[in-house]
Amino acid sequence: MEKTIIKNKSNQNWEDFFKLDLDRKMDFYEKDGKIYDCLFAQQLSKELLESLFDIADKLRKTTKTKEGADFIASLLSHKKAMLYFAQPSTRTFLSFLNACHILGMKTSEIRDSSTSSEVKGESHDDTVRTFSSYVDLIIMRHPAPGSAERTAWLLNNTNRPIPVLNAGSGKDQHPTQALLDIYTLHRQFKGHIDGKRIVMVGDLKRGRTVRSLSYLMKNYKNISIDFVSPKEFKMEQDILDFLKAHNIPYTETEDFASVMPKADAIYMTRIQDEHDASGESKKVDYSPFYFKEEHLKMIKSSCILLHPLPRRFEIDAKVDNDERAVYWRQERNGMWIRAALIAYIFGIENKIK
Ligand code: CP
Repeated sequence: MEKTIIKNKSNQNWEDFFKLDLDRKMDFYEKDGKIYDCLFAQQLSKELLESLFDIADKLRKTTKTKEGADFIASLLSHKKAMLYFAQPSTRTFLSFLNACHILGMKTSEIRDSSTSSEVKGESHDDTVRTFSSYVDLIIMRHPAPGSAERTAWLLNNTNRPIPVLNAGSGKDQHPTQALLDIYTLHRQFKGHIDGKRIVMVGDLKRGRTVRSLSYLMKNYKNISIDFVSPKEFKMEQDILDFLKAHNIPYTETEDFASVMPKADAIYMTRIQDEHDASGESKKVDYSPFYFKEEHLKMIKSSCILLHPLPRRFEIDAKVDNDERAVYWRQERNGMWIRAALIAYIFGIENKIK
């Protein structure tokens, strides 16, 4: 990928630019008609998703042999990635790290801002500019909403822009989690996501995974969504408005059992108490939003159970061995689809296909 300066087409400062509708700033995060910085689930079109599914399938197949794995690992052996995780992570970090290694990339990491010069007062902007001095890609997770976008915006205005992948920013977006979720639905439903009824359960107000997955539903026909949550943690209005604008029907309920038998897929989430301002999670009874072993007989034989993980109590571990529980496969899918995304970002997808 050529490293050229991408002009800030809006010619605006960050605060004004950040407030723009996504439609008006999408092309700032693209280059040559392709995504350059993957920051929002809304960037992922049906055509791109289908292509990434295909690349991921090819990667898993090709790397089964040493010859194939060596070939794939030669494709980006000249590239380096920085994994900057200023918020805890197990599977997003490890799946991205291993995705980079599958493609032969060298990796550096900061997993805790207290080990970077940010503790000496270095600004976030200077920190990420420093990363860009050494690497060709930044994969970042940060507690602040909009942080990945800020990084991409900043670097795109320097003479060393490098792609930025959002591995989770605040409560707002986790686009590559949505990517692995939709890849899992695609694999489990053998390519037929259209017409499915998806139930999303839990702390929907503060769950960035359900927000990003809801955005991806724009790519499918006759999808419907049931949002199941305590009244304190209902899905935010901006997502409901997005669904309305895309003619995607949804319901909202606190009665989990009422929607279980209708579901084609149930997407469980944990309470996001890391976002509590004053212990509000402790005031909510979350137990009506648990999936228990006895619920297995209430769901369709074809219904699948997903969870972005980590879980606490919201799915009983006794459910794990049921063939409809696909969350362990889901997290492994993350490594392959993230490798596919990186391959696409660096324009090597045709060599894989
Ligand atoms: N699903 C997810 O983002 O998990 P981690 O926090 O472990 O990365």
